[in-house]
Amino acid sequence: MSASTAPHLVAAVSESRQWDRLMQMAELGAITGADGSPGVNRACLTPLDREARRLLIRWATDLGLTVSVDELGNLFLRHEGTEPNEAPILTGSHMDTQPNGGRFDGIWGVIAGLEAVQAIREAGVQTRRSIEIVAWTNEEGGRFAPGCMGSMAYAHFKPADTWDAVADPEGVTFRQALDEHRSAEADLPQRPLGGKPHAYVEAHIEQGPRLEAEGFDIGVVTGIQGSRWFIVELRGETAHAGTAPLSLRKDAVQDMIRAVTALNALMTDPTDVLRFTVGRIEVQPNTSNSVADLVRFTIDFRHPDKELLITNGDAIENTIATAIKTCAVTVTERFHALPVEFDALVTDAVEDAATAQGLKTLRLPSGAFHDAQFMVPLCPTGMIFVPCRKGISHNPAEYSEPGQLAAGARVLAATLAKLANA
Ligand code: GLV
Ligand code: MN
Ligand code: MN
Repeated sequence: MSASTAPHLVAAVSESRQWDRLMQMAELGAITGADGSPGVNRACLTPLDREARRLLIRWATDLGLTVSVDELGNLFLRHEGTEPNEAPILTGSHMDTQPNGGRFDGIWGVIAGLEAVQAIREAGVQTRRSIEIVAWTNEEGGRFAPGCMGSMAYAHFKPADTWDAVADPEGVTFRQALDEHRSAEADLPQRPLGGKPHAYVEAHIEQGPRLEAEGFDIGVVTGIQGSRWFIVELRGETAHAGTAPLSLRKDAVQDMIRAVTALNALMTDPTDVLRFTVGRIEVQPNTSNSVADLVRFTIDFRHPDKELLITNGDAIENTIATAIKTCAVTVTERFHALPVEFDALVTDAVEDAATAQGLKTLRLPSGAFHDAQFMVPLCPTGMIFVPCRKGISHNPAEYSEPGQLAAGARVLAATLAKLANA
């Protein structure tokens, strides 16, 4: 019997152990959502992040895995194969959350990797290749924008110092936070940045409604749509709200409204495929009775079609410049990830593993971006989705059932075992 279908491997995945670990992780940064749901706020490169990593490291070392970190703080836990010089199979996700995040986005992919590797070891399944579980630094981009810094640097998509000057809302730069983090983890073995895995598999909650609504257990992810992030800065002039005539003002809020209205027209899509979000607005001086002299707002624009992503994204600056009346504008692009398609080596392995376990699969693309996006040029890459309630994510109400997550970990275990012996 092949390693991928061996029943003892599937049976070695523990639903309760995986759930218990997730709930322990959820205590680190626990918050309560507006509806009373238990969520998590665990920003990257914070003491809480480090506490979560130490907990993960303890579980991994108890299991006999070896630990290493690279210069971006990406954390690796390695299960040694029988042929350690062969390229490893990489699996994992991220441990940081959105400021108002849930208990599963990211962390489940890391815990599922650990559960899958633990099952492989406990079931006595030999793997020719090593398996490495990775926790990528700053996937969310919630503290330091953009997201996926760890995976972008690992894949040499961007140089490691690209984001040194990016500051969080408190003015702490990414470089300062990373240096502090690296010295707090100086006792951990170091590894060079980058690598050439044989394959990459990331497990994640779907973050959309399809699997649940259509009654599927496992999503076989076919690819990820493209994303572009911009920051727009409008500079006007502050003035007294009671005395300055409207005709003489350089009101940054009014120009922001003109800009967003024009962008809404640019981004109109009768097919409802395009995603356009203005998610963060900063206003100065931010008082009721002063005209705003500065507005900064973010744009998150996504589409599965590369040409449309390029055409509409490239039109953003001119659309704003044409729409505004009184302010000076700068538009800066800070994230540009083209759509990717996953490799049949991984998607077929995921589908075969799920089918062999009697699970119902759906092939679907990802609307969210993931670190997997940056692994595509490096090695055959794919993802496993499990359903999440009502598709809710980036929200404390995010929820997947223990059994749904266990099914995902079983598919991951079989997929890793198969790829590690290929
Ligand atoms: C990831 O968190 C995303 O915004 O897609
Ligand atoms: Mn995620
Ligand atoms: Mn997320």
